Amino acid sequence: MSKRAKAAAVLLAAAAVTGGIVAWHCAAPRQKEPEFVFSYAENQTEDYPTTLGAQKFAELVEERTDGRIRILVQAEGVMGTEHDVIEQMQYGGIDFARVSLSQLAEYIPELNVLQMPYLYTDSAHMWRVLDGGIGDMFLEKVSGNELVGLSWYDAGARNFYNSRQPISCLEDIEGMKIRVQESEMMADMVEALGATAVPTGYADVYSSIERGIVDGAENNWPSYEAMSHYEVAQYYTVDEHTRVPEMQICSEHTWEKLSEEDRQIIRECAWESALYERKLWTEREAESRRIATEHGTQVVELSPEEKKRFQNAVMGVYEKYCGDQMDVIERIIDEGGAAEENGQQEVFTEEGTE
Ligand code: GCU
Repeated sequence: MSKRAKAAAVLLAAAAVTGGIVAWHCAAPRQKEPEFVFSYAENQTEDYPTTLGAQKFAELVEERTDGRIRILVQAEGVMGTEHDVIEQMQYGGIDFARVSLSQLAEYIPELNVLQMPYLYTDSAHMWRVLDGGIGDMFLEKVSGNELVGLSWYDAGARNFYNSRQPISCLEDIEGMKIRVQESEMMADMVEALGATAVPTGYADVYSSIERGIVDGAENNWPSYEAMSHYEVAQYYTVDEHTRVPEMQICSEHTWEKLSEEDRQIIRECAWESALYERKLWTEREAESRRIATEHGTQVVELSPEEKKRFQNAVMGVYEKYCGDQMDVIERIIDEGGAAEENGQQEVFTEEGTE
């Protein structure tokens, strides 16, 4: 009798003895049921740095709570647009999310100050601000809006891209229809540059460009590449007009269910996952630029003189959105160090933001 036939015969005999019920004894102990199973909304693809950061967050939380808290990351925007997600979180329908600051700022306008155009000289400048007292102050401002701010994620710098022509000067963008996030401030910024702003959900950008509803959009390299926008908009101009950080947030309704000890664990894990995401971000930014250019993207680096013209054109937006927060703007600029060198300081004083 073959080994397999013998095993089958033993099983059949056991079934006969137990009246048809075969008791199985697994070597591994039965997994403890989690006390909480939470949802986490993410609108990027599975392999995107923010999604991988979210997965790291979930793993760390599960590990440090001995499996009592399980967080299920739902990527690719399956839980809805960022606006829907924020609203659902405000009444407890979704537990956690990573969202773009521009979307949160629609609910908490004070946050706009952190994403103003041409505000940061570079990534290090933004991180000095977010890792310091200003970043903490704005994470705290999220509380009181039925949300809790946990940590900052990187989303690099945003640039313009389009399907019509290279943008090398202000005149090139004038008259173009540019997709913007569903953000009043972003729409005003694009209009101040002489283009027409078309607020559109992230998932619809590709088809809007393809169908000619808009001429282009603006985003960081990883989004441009991950969403395949390079297939429909091959002219990409590096002007770094905004750095819009991302925030990991928790619904206050969920937060209230947690013990002080679990809250502490969640904060720590959010912070650790953020450091992990930042590292992935830097790698992905370079990789995305490489992939896009390999597929034919034509890159224009805006000259310093033109960049200054772009900066001057959007100064009015500062007054409208941060008129009462110019002290914070000054503190952010002071963190820049190199601001004066690239002419940013001059723009702020020359144009008179007051
Ligand atoms: C970035 C950000 C997304 C956002 C998107 C947009 O890719 O990570 O959260 O939805 O910008 O332009 O809408």
